[in-house]
Amino acid sequence: MNIRLFKPCLGEEELNYIKDAFDRAWIGLGPRVSEFENEWSKYLGCKSSIGLNSATAALHLAISAFKFPAGKKVLVPAITFAATAFAPIYNQLEPEFVDVDENTISISMNDLEKKYSKDCVAVMPVHFGGHPAQMDLIMEFAKSKNLKVVEDCAHTAGSSYKGKKNGLWGDIGCFSFEEKKAMTTGDGGMLCSDDAELIAPMKASRWVGIDKDTWKRADGYTDTKAPDARHWYYEIASLGYKYNMNDLSASIGLAQLKKLDWMNAERSRHIKRYLDGIKSLVHIKPLLPFEPDKNSYWLFGVRCEKRDELILYLKSKGIATGVHYMPLMLFPYFKKWDNGCETSKRIWNSFITLPLFTELTEIEIDYIIESLMEFDKKY
Ligand SMILES: Cc1ncc(COP(=O)(O)O)c(C=O)c1O
Repeated sequence: MNIRLFKPCLGEEELNYIKDAFDRAWIGLGPRVSEFENEWSKYLGCKSSIGLNSATAALHLAISAFKFPAGKKVLVPAITFAATAFAPIYNQLEPEFVDVDENTISISMNDLEKKYSKDCVAVMPVHFGGHPAQMDLIMEFAKSKNLKVVEDCAHTAGSSYKGKKNGLWGDIGCFSFEEKKAMTTGDGGMLCSDDAELIAPMKASRWVGIDKDTWKRADGYTDTKAPDARHWYYEIASLGYKYNMNDLSASIGLAQLKKLDWMNAERSRHIKRYLDGIKSLVHIKPLLPFEPDKNSYWLFGVRCEKRDELILYLKSKGIATGVHYMPLMLFPYFKKWDNGCETSKRIWNSFITLPLFTELTEIEIDYIIESLMEFDKKY
């Protein structure tokens, strides 16, 4: 056996869309990106979406939308991917780490209240592994303190919490379509909001500050009915980045979006099998309070105090594992923002991520469960 940790679910549908992009010979920022943005807005039920090359870019631009004065603080969970905490830093703001809830590994309401100070301007909840953060409570708290909310939805796509789609609770939602995620475009991200005006300037920001899409201008280059010698003209009125999604990625995204619900359901089915298989284990417990019928998870994992021994054991069986994540302040770069977060520092040592992807087979899951059982028995 050699079982991967993550694997994108790709096939004929994606190839057909890519072939179409090749046939039109337009693979940069173009009409497919607009089409994907519209389809995504429809799917999520939001007013506006902007396609980007990553969630890292989406989080950066989302925070920039509010034009916070430099030096203010943004509340970020201590256990997340670095991109969440980079977003305030890219914007000359300071990350203020908030401890996570011991069970859900999402931002702790208790510590959020403790870490809040007058300098805080925003909070960035992460739906860790796909398990929803307590968005109702977070929104209530944010409103009472006048904090903006940028939802980091890199770990979930298409899921809801208390009847509302994740990504639409906060002011702006940011999604990741990186290779390993719930759906992929190779690399890619989406910035979404019901406040279309708030994120409209981000269209120029993603395209080196240019206020017009090249592919729309291109029609004018040869339009004899519009004898305008300045068809090439565009304004640059703000700082821009090269953060755009391209038509090749959007083509893959259009095909992936059609099967997102199915892929989410397949991963839920796998999680149920895992949960059933490990329920009697003594030393190995589920990483999260998984509710596969309610939520859409990107990640499955367990907690075990003998983490490194279990990782080595699974390695000897050909089973890939990972650790998501080490608390950010334990990395040299983030050390200067270390402000405690003792729960995060204590619990992460037991985290192990196990294989989870759409096409994982029942035979593979049962083999992983058997290996976990063997380890648990001789623990
Ligand atoms: C919580 C979280 N936020 C943001 C990102 C960044 O996503 P991307 O790779 O699309 O930039 C990731 C990627 O793993 C993530 O896990």
